[in-house]
Amino acid sequence: MALESASNSTDTGFWSDVSDHVLRYGPVFEQRVIERAEGSYVYDSSGAPILDFTSGQMSSILGHSHPDIVRTVREQIGKLDHLFSGMLSRPVVDLSKRLGSLLPGLEKVLLLSTGAESNEAAIRLAKLVTGKHEIVAFTKSWHGMTGAAASATYSHNRRGYGPVNPGSFAIPAPNAYRPRFTDANGNLDWKTELDDAFALVDSQSTGNLAAFIAEPILSSGGIIELPVGYLAALRQKCDERGMLLILDEAQTGIGRTGHMFAFQRDGVTPDILTLSKTLGAGLPLSAVLTSRAIEEEAHRKGFVFLTTHVSDPLPAAVGLAVMDVVERDGLIGRAVSAGQRLQAGLEGLKQRFESVGDVRGRGLLLGLEIVTDRASRQPDLAMADRIGAEAMARGLSMNIVKLPAMGAVFRIAPPLTISDAEIDQGLDIMASAIEAARA
Ligand SMILES: Cc1ncc(COP(=O)(O)O)c(C=O)c1O
Repeated sequence: MALESASNSTDTGFWSDVSDHVLRYGPVFEQRVIERAEGSYVYDSSGAPILDFTSGQMSSILGHSHPDIVRTVREQIGKLDHLFSGMLSRPVVDLSKRLGSLLPGLEKVLLLSTGAESNEAAIRLAKLVTGKHEIVAFTKSWHGMTGAAASATYSHNRRGYGPVNPGSFAIPAPNAYRPRFTDANGNLDWKTELDDAFALVDSQSTGNLAAFIAEPILSSGGIIELPVGYLAALRQKCDERGMLLILDEAQTGIGRTGHMFAFQRDGVTPDILTLSKTLGAGLPLSAVLTSRAIEEEAHRKGFVFLTTHVSDPLPAAVGLAVMDVVERDGLIGRAVSAGQRLQAGLEGLKQRFESVGDVRGRGLLLGLEIVTDRASRQPDLAMADRIGAEAMARGLSMNIVKLPAMGAVFRIAPPLTISDAEIDQGLDIMASAIEAARA
C-alpha cells in the first residue's frame, strides 16, 4: 500500500498472522501496526504519531495512558482485582456513591463492563418494573451487539441474524439536515414528526410499551442531535403511555458535550441512565443509574442481573480516577472551549470546501458530513473514504463508520485533554486531506 510506512509494510509476519487467525468483525483494518499510545496520539511500529480524533472507540476522554489511570490500575491490580459477584468493595461503593450523588432521581447504581451490557440491564429493569416488553428506539440508534441492545439498534445491518426481540419498534430520529417534516420556513418540524411517529407506534403496540431508549446525540447514526425541547416532548410521550425513558450516554456522558450528561442541557431526567465508553475512559466499565423507587420495585420483583464482572473493584477504581481527573482538571469546561475552537475550524472547512455539507454536534462530539454537492445533500461515501485515507497518511485518525445507513459522516471526538495546538494540527491535516482527496 503506497501510503504505508516502510516499517509497517515490512511487518509481514504480523499481517499473515492477521490473515490466518484474526476473525474479521466488521471494520477494514488500518494497515498499520499500533505499538503504543500516549495523550492524544497513537504510534505505529515505525514510531509515526497518529493524532487520535476519535478517542479510540470514542472512549479515551483523558487521552491514552493518562498518568492517573496508569497509577490507579497499577496500584489497584496489586491490591484487589476481581471478586465473587456477591462481595462488595470500597471502589465499587465509592463510585456508586459518586455517580449516584450527581442528580436527584438517579441515586442507585449498578456497575458493569460494556455499553451493550448496561443497556441489557436497563431494558431488563424496565421490563420487570413495568411488567411490559415493548421497546422503542430511533431508526439510527446504536445500543450494542447483544440481544436486547441489538434489538433496539437500527443503524447496523439487522439482516442474517434471525429474529430480534418481539415488540421492537423504531421511530425516525429528528434530522435537521435532512428533515422529513418541515415548517413554513423549510426547517425541521420535529413536533409533527414525533406525533406522527408515536401514532405509528401506538397502532403497532399490543399495549405493552415498556420503554423508549435513546442517545441524546445519535453518534453512530451520524451525529444527529436531538433539538432543544425534543427530550422533554419525548419524556411526555413516555409518561402518557406509562413507558420508562432510558437514556444511553455511552458517548455523550462524563462531560464530552459540555455538561456532565448531555440531557442536562434539556432539563429532563431519564428514569434510567446508562454510561459506558467515557466512564472508563477506554477501560471496560459501564453503569446503570436509576431512581430509588424503580430500584425498590425491581428488587421487590426479584431483579437479577448477575455477570462475571459486575461490581469488579479494578474498573471501579478506574472510574473513580476518571471522575477525579474530569473534576480536578475542569474538563467539562474544557469540552466547551476546545469544542468551540474545533467547531469554528470545521465551519471554516465548510466555507472552503463544497464537499463539506454540514457541521454539527456539541462540545467535543462533532460531525462533519461529506456530500456530493450542497444542493442535493447526497452523502459522498467514496469522497469521505478518500479523505479518511489521506488524513491517515498525514497522521490523523478520524474514521467514518463504514456500515450501511451511517452515511458519510466523520465523527470527531478527540480526548477532552486535547491541546489547542493539537486541535489546530488536526484541522490543518483535514484541510490538506480534503484538498488531496479532491485532486
Ligand atoms: C451509544 C452507544 N451505546 C452503546 C454502545 C455499545 O457499547 P459496547 O460496544 O461497549 O457494548 C455503543 C457503542 O458504540 C454506543 O455508541
